[in-house]
Amino acid sequence: MRLTICILKSTQHGTKWTGARGYAGDGGRRECGLQRICRKPRIDRNFNAAANDFFMHRIAVLGSTGSIGTNCLEVIGAFPERLNLAGVAARSSWRLLGQQTERFAPRWAVLSDASLRESVPRSAFSSKTELLFGPEGVERLASDPEVDVIVSGIVGAAGLAGTWAALEAGKRVCIANKETLVVAGPLMMDLARRRGAQVIPVDSEHSAVFQALQSGRRHEVRRIVLTASGGPFRKLSPAELERVTPEQALAHPTWNMGRKITIDSATMMNKALEVIEAKWLFGLDVDQIDVVVHPQSVVHSFVEFVDGSVIGQLSPPDMKLPIQYALTWPDRVTGVSPRLDWTNRFQLDFEPPDLERFPALGLGFEVARRGGTCGAVLNAANEAAVERFLNNDIRFCDIARACRAVLEAHDFDPSPSLADLIAHDRKARQEIAKWKS
Ligand SMILES: NC(=O)c1ccc[n+]([C@@H]2O[C@H](COP(=O)([O-])OP(=O)(O)OC[C@H]3O[C@@H](n4cnc5c(N)ncnc54)[C@H](OP(=O)(O)O)[C@@H]3O)[C@@H](O)[C@H]2O)c1
Repeated sequence: MRLTICILKSTQHGTKWTGARGYAGDGGRRECGLQRICRKPRIDRNFNAAANDFFMHRIAVLGSTGSIGTNCLEVIGAFPERLNLAGVAARSSWRLLGQQTERFAPRWAVLSDASLRESVPRSAFSSKTELLFGPEGVERLASDPEVDVIVSGIVGAAGLAGTWAALEAGKRVCIANKETLVVAGPLMMDLARRRGAQVIPVDSEHSAVFQALQSGRRHEVRRIVLTASGGPFRKLSPAELERVTPEQALAHPTWNMGRKITIDSATMMNKALEVIEAKWLFGLDVDQIDVVVHPQSVVHSFVEFVDGSVIGQLSPPDMKLPIQYALTWPDRVTGVSPRLDWTNRFQLDFEPPDLERFPALGLGFEVARRGGTCGAVLNAANEAAVERFLNNDIRFCDIARACRAVLEAHDFDPSPSLADLIAHDRKARQEIAKWKS
């Protein structure tokens, strides 16, 4: 049996409706992965009452100056009666951060680069906003009792501490920062379970899976199929791939994203990271995860059920929709995202990925199978190798080669602690700095 309930949460200012709805039994809050998501749709939903049926979320956006962060602020700005920006955090982009505080007047703004403390002019920020510096400021914002929802939009393993703090504080975490789950997926999901935190995907593929999973129950899922645009070099020969420049790799055909994820898309390491992310997020076996190349980036992923039905989620390639869904879930509201135009003829293509030309994807499956320290090592190696490629220090195809070399040489531990994972991350970066093709 399933009930729709509202969760009451005590705050410094008394009891408040968080707007989150759980399920009967343990409220859906201790369950995880497929078990939590795969439920029949709510039968008691009153669509006409939807606007009144949703309560104010106080949101902190970690990585607010990036591609995810700025899209997120657009979504928040479109729903002032439902979504309130309580805090923003970035590394060093203080001018944009200051403009964001002028527009939204959040309570907190954080610059994680503590060296900026003396040089950043206070006048660049809203007088209503308190300015914090250093990584501990990000953790403070992520665990603040006056924040209900965290958008984890910092790029790379740098996002781990803030995401961890938010889970520990039992928040709803809208997770774009896939690297965090790649590094420490089992520990993070276990923490979420223990603290009653919700982890809602923002990555478009995982949002699509999350949405499609709601069409069935756990034991009815056969597999998920993550779609991949194939990046800008889908049709290049191995010889041409060797000569790819950073400028070419930064020009993605369908998505407008930050630099690191754009390079990851070109190597297909992004899909590799997403396979690992999906395994931990949804509690799947690796054999239940497939990847298909879909150049138009309109179908964001599929779930195949045991009866052969395949449920997918379609929309134009725009991150505002999955961001909005994560913020308003379980509600759907009229939003700011573009819509598909069904009046014009258009085509959707699908083809299998080429693991020979894009070996990074194969690495992702291997790492997802092996678990342990492999995710942390692959992620750190990739972050450092992408940096070297962007600095014209190694070639495009060297990224996957260097990652494989560091992964194979590392001292594997099947059940590491968080401290172990951080140590492996550091070591892998040092190894990449020394790596020669
Ligand atoms: N972009 C997309 O469409 C998309 C889609 C799916 C998933 N994602 C994932 O979302 C995450 C963000 O991607 P993005 O494309 O938005 O990256 P991005 O444009 O490069 O933005 C990164 C953000 O993180 C901040 N940041 C970096 N290091 C930090 C640190 N040590 N402490 C605090 N803040 C830090 C940056 O601040 P500064 O501006 O000050 O450097 C910036 O706000 C990545 O994990 C990516 O894989 C992105």
